[in-house]
Amino acid sequence: MPEHDKQKEAKKCYPEIPQKTEGFYLKGCGSLDWGMKNRMGRIFNSESGRTVMLAIDHGYFQGPTSGLERVDLNILPLIPYADTLMLTRGILRTIIPPSVTQSIVLRVSGGSSILKELSNEDIAVDIEDTIRLNACAMAVQVFVGGEYERQSIINMTKMVDMGTRYGIPTLAVTAVGKDMKRDARYFRLATRICAELGAHYIKSYYVEDGFETVAASCPVPIVMAGGKKIPELDALTMAYKAIQEGAAGVDMGRNIFQSEAPVAMIQAVNAVVHKNESPEKAFEMYNTLKNEG
Ligand code: R5P
Repeated sequence: MPEHDKQKEAKKCYPEIPQKTEGFYLKGCGSLDWGMKNRMGRIFNSESGRTVMLAIDHGYFQGPTSGLERVDLNILPLIPYADTLMLTRGILRTIIPPSVTQSIVLRVSGGSSILKELSNEDIAVDIEDTIRLNACAMAVQVFVGGEYERQSIINMTKMVDMGTRYGIPTLAVTAVGKDMKRDARYFRLATRICAELGAHYIKSYYVEDGFETVAASCPVPIVMAGGKKIPELDALTMAYKAIQEGAAGVDMGRNIFQSEAPVAMIQAVNAVVHKNESPEKAFEMYNTLKNEG
């Protein structure tokens, strides 16, 4: 090859610049396959490394929950401020416009209602339907210490295996029985069991005492569960503390859609999660937006 052609080739290949090998920004996710990482990346913002998941899946065991009676009227306006929607395939197909760009975390466990033992769940969605719906993760309830503990854990491991075949992550949702103590010891146990058995990220409640030990001893990202409705400033404070103590985001439902001003509340939560806004400032923001709206 003539000398000038060689130089031309060398120029096009940039031999002096080594190819960048990017790491991955989410805890414990470095060894996942490309599809898994890409889906996790659609749930967790790559700049903040965090997510605001809007949980509206309550109907799968308790019917038309207060605030979710009309998802079309009450929830659609919140979507622009969420990174991810956590919901059932029924609501997704019937109400959510396919043009939404937010990632979808599909509720795939079910089979019980508030009228009976809640932990008696099974896998309630075929993996093919999850793929068809272009979901970025599958959510499975895990009842550590519950009556159907084993069954719910095996539901989760089955989804991890199936999801791994197709590059779809599994979110383990730790569910605490009514009579069980919600403390750091319990959540360290529950979240760690889920992670050890393959869950790609885990939803855990916040506890005042020792949440940082829950987050630190769990090798994959944790998102904070919202729980029952509390005053807005308290909910923002809880989200702030969880984030500062190691959570990679929130998965909140009632504390957003049952708020007096849900659109304002989700924006305030978003600021706490992605911008480290203090609870006081975020509450101010909530009030301003509420009064404007
Ligand atoms: C239950 O455990 C489900 O995951 C819920 O339906 C939901 O995600 C709970 O959200 P929140 O407690 O914030 O209303």
